[in-house]
Amino acid sequence: MGFSEKQRTVLRFPYTGYDALICDGAVRSGKTSVMALSFFLWAMSNFRDCSFALCGKSVGAVQRNMVTPLLGVMYLQEQFDIKYNRADHVIVARRGDRENRFYLFGGKDESSAALIQGITLAGVLLDEAALMPRSFVEQALARCSVAGSKLWFNCNPEGPEHWFRKEWILKPEKHNALHLHFTMDDNPSLTDEIRERYKSMYSGVFYERFILGRWVMSEGLIYDMFDTDANTYTDAQAPASLHFSGVRTVACDYGTTNPTVFLDIYDYDGTIYVDREYRWDSRDMDNGGRQKTDEEYADDMEAFLHGDQCAIIVDPSAASFIAALRRRGLYVVAAENDVLDGIRRTAALIQRRKLLANKTCAGLIGELGTYLWDEKSCKLGVDKPLKERDHGPDALRYYVNSLPDWRFDVVQT
Ligand SMILES: Nc1ncnc2c1ncn2[C@@H]1O[C@H](COP(=O)(O)OP(=O)(O)OP(=O)(O)O)[C@@H](O)[C@H]1O
Ligand SMILES: [Mg+2]
Repeated sequence: MGFSEKQRTVLRFPYTGYDALICDGAVRSGKTSVMALSFFLWAMSNFRDCSFALCGKSVGAVQRNMVTPLLGVMYLQEQFDIKYNRADHVIVARRGDRENRFYLFGGKDESSAALIQGITLAGVLLDEAALMPRSFVEQALARCSVAGSKLWFNCNPEGPEHWFRKEWILKPEKHNALHLHFTMDDNPSLTDEIRERYKSMYSGVFYERFILGRWVMSEGLIYDMFDTDANTYTDAQAPASLHFSGVRTVACDYGTTNPTVFLDIYDYDGTIYVDREYRWDSRDMDNGGRQKTDEEYADDMEAFLHGDQCAIIVDPSAASFIAALRRRGLYVVAAENDVLDGIRRTAALIQRRKLLANKTCAGLIGELGTYLWDEKSCKLGVDKPLKERDHGPDALRYYVNSLPDWRFDVVQT
């Protein structure tokens, strides 16, 4: 398949006088794949014995979004000798006597931040730059000291006050950067049907950002796509073999003065069913305003499990509770706590009605309906939810973050 006009501009970028390239815009619009290809060809044609950085949110994301697609390009296989050393996260590429190294870094990975400090680079590609800590991005750029080095960025939009927009997207001339805005029409591999399916995944602020590619503010309700009919079910409406065939997981948000919530979740036939909830609010006077100990919560968890074993995904900050559960021989996983990614994924499942709550889960349903963006923080360019009535949504997010990426890709469903 050929390239779109905008993708061809990315392939021509190294031969313009710009020092940096910024591609922003919609999801699946063909930014990362063509940027990785152009970056690799530029590096191999213009440098020898140099080091380059391929940076993403995590090393795993770099492998998935850039390395695997690059290794799959037949032309590159024919023209270059490319070896990927998985253990050291480095690609060594050679043509004739010319050799360069491409290091993989994850902005979220602690070790990457330390490793990148010591390296001298001839070029950096930052995939999903707006999701990385600013300090990591600036450190990576500071390492680019070889003559002729260039900076390559791509990202999906975030809020209008996001530092990356203000510093780079709005000031390309300050950095002698070329800015290209992508829409799904710039990806020639998408059929109309697939494009429509992606569009159906998002609504509200997510639609504007990820489909229309606009840097708009998060405000108001986070899960405005949650529909108290379409996203709920009664026991009578549940699939007959839900408990028998569904893959069960319990997700837990833990609090001592704040409420503790357990959610009993079944993954069945591509849909997530939140079937029961447990909730203890020490501030609720119906509970006598009493706090529970970790051992009491662990007793409650055992009762909630009804004697069955399943994975329990727990708030990663609840170290003492995790230890208490493990002492009882329960299988506990500390949750991945990426808030925005978790919200985006959860919103996509809710929007597609792939996430349903039993009507008996009144606490969760109530909180999903009042879960708000923290507008003060969003206005300052840092998207985050208000830390109020967020216990059910937090537990749900811990669960959703445990699902593999392909569950969120419409092409696979
Ligand atoms: N010209 C092309 N020919 C064939 N396939 C393509 C082409 N451009 C993009 N694709 C494919 O389309 C998919 C999406 O492309 P890519 O990952 O580059 O998009 P993206 O804009 O980075 O998306 P996201 O914002 O979601 O990260 C990938 O599977 C990629 O291999
Ligand atoms: Mg991408």
